[in-house]
Amino acid sequence: MSKKLYLETYGCQMNVVDSEVVVSILNKEGIFLTDTLDNADIVLVNTCSVRENAEQRIRGRLQVFNQYKKKKKSIIIGVIGCMAERLKEKLLEEEKMVDLVVGPDSYRDLPKLIQSSETGQKQINVLLSVEETYADISPVRYDSKGVSAFVSITRGCDNMCTYCIVPFTRGRERSRNPETILKECKELSASGYKEVTLLGQNVDSYIWNENETQISFAELLEKVAISSSDLRIRFATSHPSDMSDDVLHIMAKYDNICKSIHLPGQSGSNNMLKLMKRGYTREWYMDRISAIRRILPDCTISTDIIAGFCNETEQDHLDTLSLMEWAKFDFAFMFKYSVRPNTYASKKLEDNVPEEVKSKRLTEIIELQRELSKKNKHKDIGKVFEVLVEGFSKKSDENMYGRNSQNNVVIFPAKNLEIGAKVNVKIFRCTSSTIFGEIV
Ligand code: SAH
Ligand code: SF4
Ligand code: F3S
Repeated sequence: MSKKLYLETYGCQMNVVDSEVVVSILNKEGIFLTDTLDNADIVLVNTCSVRENAEQRIRGRLQVFNQYKKKKKSIIIGVIGCMAERLKEKLLEEEKMVDLVVGPDSYRDLPKLIQSSETGQKQINVLLSVEETYADISPVRYDSKGVSAFVSITRGCDNMCTYCIVPFTRGRERSRNPETILKECKELSASGYKEVTLLGQNVDSYIWNENETQISFAELLEKVAISSSDLRIRFATSHPSDMSDDVLHIMAKYDNICKSIHLPGQSGSNNMLKLMKRGYTREWYMDRISAIRRILPDCTISTDIIAGFCNETEQDHLDTLSLMEWAKFDFAFMFKYSVRPNTYASKKLEDNVPEEVKSKRLTEIIELQRELSKKNKHKDIGKVFEVLVEGFSKKSDENMYGRNSQNNVVIFPAKNLEIGAKVNVKIFRCTSSTIFGEIV
């Protein structure tokens, strides 16, 4: 008899693909998705630990499932992903109604663990692996419009930035067999997809060794661009220490590789970069931005910034603002520093920037970025972009939206275009987040 799974996913794009892998694994065992909690036999929450508030939000959801379990005792509640890995057995102690705790490298074990938990015994598997990439599993793209999909190319991270929990929750970095990556992209294209995003915490450190030859990220990117020439190709995340000119030249060579790079800088201050153990200086980071501008003049650049890391002075903060102004980022994800247990920073450094100072600095960063985004988008007025149509605009069904190669959202009047079509749009207006145009 088939069972029903209710699945919620939090955190980064890696978790999105991981949930698709989980659905694939469970479908084979007769467990199928439902989008209503009332029908569910099993609830899984794929979780994120990157910041304290991410975990709090998930704890809030667990309370809701707790109430639910009081009414329907037979329901199995499982926490998977990064919180499962970070908290391990503690999660079973802290959240009494949780039946199942499964870390990111143990999803193949889920069917067995679910079955065992039906006897009322709590189940846990949080073993990390140095090999698991789920390379042979075809993710089930259950929440997709059939246009764009994520394809995982590496798992884990070896960087150990001092603030970051990811190396602890995801384990050692490992690269996926390139043949399986190429195959997955081809299959996506055959089933109508138009765009793939190659995913890893640090895609530039992708490396595959076989028969004395090595395949680097630049080489992988080229292989995907050639073998799936009908797909648009994106990737994330690039790491400033490792992003080579080779990658930029490959991007320039192939039209189907999108001209946008996510290059998290975190801070503009050398003191902070050193304390964060990011492995580069402000000058090095600026050199990488200059290389992008030189080799890919049409490329947009986005970043991640942390405000109020340990010992951050007003001058360090001003250095971040001046770097942002210099780099003219198109987009940024901006966060207040949040201490993560067991990281180097939590053990050896003091979280000594007062909350109100963190907030003030974050606000200044956000305001500056809003201006920069707006100025950048203004420069697009009058230009024509190829837009991959993704759907109808939320505000009006007279308008459709899509993205250009630069990853900007473009809105334009249209009614009967197919999702996944490509149209040329001339831009005539913008806000800080969106550009508006007309089909030409
Ligand atoms: N691998 C990617 C980022 C993964 S986490 C990279 O190295 O760029 C995504 C972002 O969350 C990070 O870039 C960082 O800006 C932010 N982040 C990570 N840990 C954090 C913490 N403890 N507090 C606040 N922000 C954090
Ligand atoms: Fe975290 Fe640094 Fe790895 Fe990114 S590169 S996941 S910030 S440790
Ligand atoms: Fe969060 Fe884990 Fe991704 S901590 S950001 S879901 S790798």
